[in-house]
Amino acid sequence: MTAASALDLSVSFAGVQLRNPIIAASGTFGYGVEFEDVVNLGKLGGFVVKGLSREPMIGNPPPRLWETAAGMLNAIGLQNIGARAFLEEKLPRLRQIKDTVVITNVFGYTREDYENTIQILNEGEGIAAYELNVSCPNTEHGGLQFGMDPRSLDEVVTTAKRVARRPLIVKLSPNVTSITQMAYVAQESGADALSLINTFTAMAIDPETRKPRIANVTAGLSGPAIKPIAVRMVYDAAQAVKIPVIGMGGISTPADVIEFMLAGATAVQIGTASYWDPCATEKIVDGLENWCHDHRITRIRDFVGGMVME
Ligand SMILES: Cc1cc2nc3c(=O)[nH]c(=O)nc-3n(C[C@H](O)[C@H](O)[C@H](O)COP(=O)(O)O)c2cc1C
Repeated sequence: MTAASALDLSVSFAGVQLRNPIIAASGTFGYGVEFEDVVNLGKLGGFVVKGLSREPMIGNPPPRLWETAAGMLNAIGLQNIGARAFLEEKLPRLRQIKDTVVITNVFGYTREDYENTIQILNEGEGIAAYELNVSCPNTEHGGLQFGMDPRSLDEVVTTAKRVARRPLIVKLSPNVTSITQMAYVAQESGADALSLINTFTAMAIDPETRKPRIANVTAGLSGPAIKPIAVRMVYDAAQAVKIPVIGMGGISTPADVIEFMLAGATAVQIGTASYWDPCATEKIVDGLENWCHDHRITRIRDFVGGMVME
């Protein structure tokens, strides 16, 4: 057997099998179909579609993006076509892509929003898992994000788990004092897996005009600038829970993927890198294969949690 045929990049979490650990991150890969002309979707482990809500949303006014040193600010405002239109207009095409896992990201402003959106998505065929975006203001409790308050997090995860007919991935916000506590709360409330991190709340001002760079004033920071903090948070979360952890935050090279896996991630997501190079996800899959061959690695899952101390 040649070295190439001996390489096993497959990983699995919560009963979801992936041909490799590379997943395109929510909000940076449209509904997948938009990337068909530039990325061979069949090469990816999977992708997470744009955050879906019960009703369509138009998002925030422009400007919504601003590039920073080694990062990007965004305040898209969770623009999306709504869960029902996703099932009717996008999912039939996505189901034709064989063996690439489709995960739907879900958000809401009340527990009922999450519940209703998941109930709609339950009717669709070919969705592998739900990823719960808890970085939204909880309007039932005065606007503090679900993901910043342990009690709100418990409530929304418990609600989602009760209705979800598919594995539930809870996507944690990094804007917390203790990621360990939030990871543990999500697990105890029924999460089948965790994904982290979402963006950091941040902002930038133009000194010439004195105006905020982003119309919404505050925005989410992503990209290589956040990577070391993301690695630390993935490491802390993976130590705190028994369920699998999916890592992300600034990944742009195969070596970054290995770094997150060593910190405890079973799989990874690639977000902002697709803005700088739309082919980034596929290139990272190819690069990962080469990296493993060069390092005589035959089974990538052996890296998970494999950081050595001495
Ligand atoms: C433009 C943009 C839109 C995003 N939209 C979503 C979203 O709808 N739901 C979500 O859970 N995360 C969303 N995210 C967060 C990313 O999925 C990811 O968690 C974050 O950007 C960190 O990874 P990265 O540094 O590789 O981009 C978005 C990020 C960006 C840059």
